Amino acid sequence: MLDHDQAPPLPKESRGPVNPLFRRKPVEQLVSEGGQGEGGALRRSLTMWQLTMISIGATLGTGIFVVLGEAAPKAGPAVTISFIIAGLTALFSALSYAELAGSVPVSGSSYSYAYATMGEFIAWVCGWCLVLEYAVSVSAVAVGWGQYLNELLDGIFGFTIPESLSTPLFDGGFINLPSLVVVLLAMVFLMRGAKESARINTIMVVIKVVTLLLFIGIGVLGIKSGNYAPLAPLGITGISAAASTLFFSYIGFDAASTAGEEAKNPKKDLPRAIMLSLGIVTVLYCLVAFVAVGAMPWQDFEGTEAALAQIMTDVTGGSFWGIVLAAGAVVAIASVVFAVLYGQTRILFAMSRDGLVPKVFAKVDEKTGAPRANVVIVSLFCGALAAFVPLGELANATSIGTLFAFALVNVAVVILRRTKPDMPRTFKVALFPVTPILGFIACGYMMYSLPMPTWIAFGVWMVVGVVVYFLYGVRRSRLATAEM
Ligand code: ALA
Repeated sequence: MLDHDQAPPLPKESRGPVNPLFRRKPVEQLVSEGGQGEGGALRRSLTMWQLTMISIGATLGTGIFVVLGEAAPKAGPAVTISFIIAGLTALFSALSYAELAGSVPVSGSSYSYAYATMGEFIAWVCGWCLVLEYAVSVSAVAVGWGQYLNELLDGIFGFTIPESLSTPLFDGGFINLPSLVVVLLAMVFLMRGAKESARINTIMVVIKVVTLLLFIGIGVLGIKSGNYAPLAPLGITGISAAASTLFFSYIGFDAASTAGEEAKNPKKDLPRAIMLSLGIVTVLYCLVAFVAVGAMPWQDFEGTEAALAQIMTDVTGGSFWGIVLAAGAVVAIASVVFAVLYGQTRILFAMSRDGLVPKVFAKVDEKTGAPRANVVIVSLFCGALAAFVPLGELANATSIGTLFAFALVNVAVVILRRTKPDMPRTFKVALFPVTPILGFIACGYMMYSLPMPTWIAFGVWMVVGVVVYFLYGVRRSRLATAEM
């Protein structure tokens, strides 16, 4: 139980007249607080496989089922190469995540790593970016889910949910009901605690992986070698533009790092789960993309919604497998909503324990071991965002926020190696410091290649974040109250 008033004295490192913006939370303290919340503790129940499934759950969804259709016309048949490039960018940062998750196995993910290495202000900025990566993307993915559901309903029953009930308030409709429903469903399951949530997540992940394997198995029969020539009709520019678009499909591999305080053996299992999930999704993505552009001319992806379902229908000559694929996609995208929502609640849990957001986010229900109030607040917020607000540029800013957080993780690895060279590490980044430096550059380059409106949305988001910090966190932070 963590009562801020009775909290144990802070180690020397965090005391003293340090500029509030740079006060750091010692690694030892981060680790020793593991699991402790207000009125109870999170429970350690997750195995390595369940952690891997959380990361795959958060990763594999809209990117492969929807965004592939947007990327194929940019790169042509070379879209598989774009997937590899985007995957490599993710890999550099994944290695850094794996090292930090193995040495600082807490639930705050990159926010906590930044707190231990770069100080409170950067940690807050990182946490604020994670809200873009997690909460805003949950809402955006939920909106995509509604569209996919409509297509499935259309395919099976020949009807769709009317526009007034599937479009947000300021976008021509009244409410986006399907998006709200999928977020609320996720909320109900998340209230049961990590163990139950992990079980439900695993079932959904198995369904989506099997769906993609089915696609590969059936789609391969429709491959025509002529579809692969010319391989890169739009050159290197097209391949790298598609890679930037496809980076979105890798977001989420870091979700296991938000489960640090619910993992049975976090130091060993978190690095493995992060690397394994990234490996599995990369292989699946490349195979699916290779089969898709082999079975359908790349020009035909333009304007084809639900391209994978269309390919299944074309190859088999009937609608059955297309509908199966569409149903798999509905489960897949719902599972992203579920796993990402889980991640957001755990990040806010860690931030609340540090006093940077209200205490209610760290309140743990004794019976289930779940931060229930946190789950309800986050779900209602994301549900309302998806249901009523046209997200527009804010949804696009998801990638830029994520890239910024990834870039910070690469910096954090370098700092921690320097400040704590002898700390036991269960996983070490290969070719240090080249790999994190490359990771940092790759993230910076991807951010640079995003369009101006996305940067403007990101800038506005950051300004709001900084204002919130100076109005709330700077004085309420647990390190600040300890200093006083
Ligand atoms: N990577 C996640 C998806 O593709 C966000 O849906």
